[in-house]
Amino acid sequence: MERKKIRIGIIGLGLMGREFASSIARWCHLLDDGPVPELAGICDKNKDTWKWYMDNFPGIAIATDDYKSLIESDGIDAIYCAVPHNLHEQIYIDIIKAGKHLLGEKPFGIDKAANENIMKIISDHPEVIVCCSSEFPYFPACQTLINWLKNGKYGRLIEVRAGFHHSSDMDLAKPINWKRMVEINGEYGCMGDLGMHTLHIPFRMGWKPVSVFADLQKIAETRPDGKGNTVPCKTWDNAVLTCKSIDPKTGKEFSLVVETKRMAPGATNNWFIKVYGTEGSAKFSTHNPKAFDYLTTSGKEQGWTRIDVGSQSAIPSITGGIFEFGFSDAFQQMIGAFVHELSGNGTLNPFRNVTPAETTWSHELFTAALESHRTGRKIELQP
Ligand SMILES: NC(=O)c1ccc[n+]([C@@H]2O[C@H](COP(=O)([O-])OP(=O)(O)OC[C@H]3O[C@@H](n4cnc5c(N)ncnc54)[C@H](O)[C@@H]3O)[C@@H](O)[C@H]2O)c1
Repeated sequence: MERKKIRIGIIGLGLMGREFASSIARWCHLLDDGPVPELAGICDKNKDTWKWYMDNFPGIAIATDDYKSLIESDGIDAIYCAVPHNLHEQIYIDIIKAGKHLLGEKPFGIDKAANENIMKIISDHPEVIVCCSSEFPYFPACQTLINWLKNGKYGRLIEVRAGFHHSSDMDLAKPINWKRMVEINGEYGCMGDLGMHTLHIPFRMGWKPVSVFADLQKIAETRPDGKGNTVPCKTWDNAVLTCKSIDPKTGKEFSLVVETKRMAPGATNNWFIKVYGTEGSAKFSTHNPKAFDYLTTSGKEQGWTRIDVGSQSAIPSITGGIFEFGFSDAFQQMIGAFVHELSGNGTLNPFRNVTPAETTWSHELFTAALESHRTGRKIELQP
């Protein structure tokens, strides 16, 4: 029987647009009998970006620089939208109003007000499926950690550290781009760029912060503009948020430390989560992407155990079980979870993508973090 197709349009054909297109081009990689996403339309203001797509995707029926003509097309079922943050609000709202399902990029609105406006439209359109992108939890070793968490093997939580460390900004000669401009990237800076990734698992476990104390840093004060001038660089480079959360499993408070750093010497794209509890602890980092580390606390002596997890993904794939898994695989699994949500096919039940409500929690946290840094005080949050 021929499998159902989901006709996808991509808005924003840059770094992430290509990653998405490449993922769905190799859908045969997944051993899954659900619908198959197919690239049917593309949109970018910069027409230079179109060529790679046109050369590689013969099924593209619409190529446009006007996103409205893409979202109004009857030939499109769902949109992946990866545009700069200042455009999220208007474009996401228009996509949802047009009745197209949406996998949108983080931070899902440049600020809290933009996110609230997107949320209003989502609640007016319950027939539209909306998710936010976050791929790192789909590493198989991290899926192992998530199952370990669900089984409550940690006892009472002491501390959770979730972070994302980059170092691309350590090169002070790197020209400024939109991700370093407050008016396009947003006042959150590194938090808006990296934060949703760090919060996906904590939020899913119900560890919504009840307070935050934030330490934000601006390290690169200027950058070349690529045209021979030096211009101010005003975004936050690094942020450490020390939060209190309550674990629904025990009703007890614990520390949740969220680190988002663009200037972390030695790191490239290191996403990690470390969970410390009275009975057990566990950690995963993309620095060692196969490794699931855990320890059981049984009295005096404690030692970490490492399991090398192969490529056994949430949605099974053709890759041999002992082979390595990477960023592109995690991204494809995330899209797989989105497609499962669209199809309502409940047989596999993969870890869900970030929900719209979870993006709102992240905006509440980052807005409180800005206030905390500005006032030097701990800020209380709605539980
Ligand atoms: N999930 C991840 O791991 C990840 C990684 C990087 C970035 N992102 C997110 O993805 C989004 C895009 O980031 P990127 O790195 O792909 O950026 P990018 O700059 O590489 O691409 C953005 C594209 O949007 C296009 N664009 C701008 N205005 C437009 C408009 N009005 N209509 C159509 N296209 C328009 C630009 O021309 C550009 O090609 C951001 O929200 C970012 O935070 C996610």
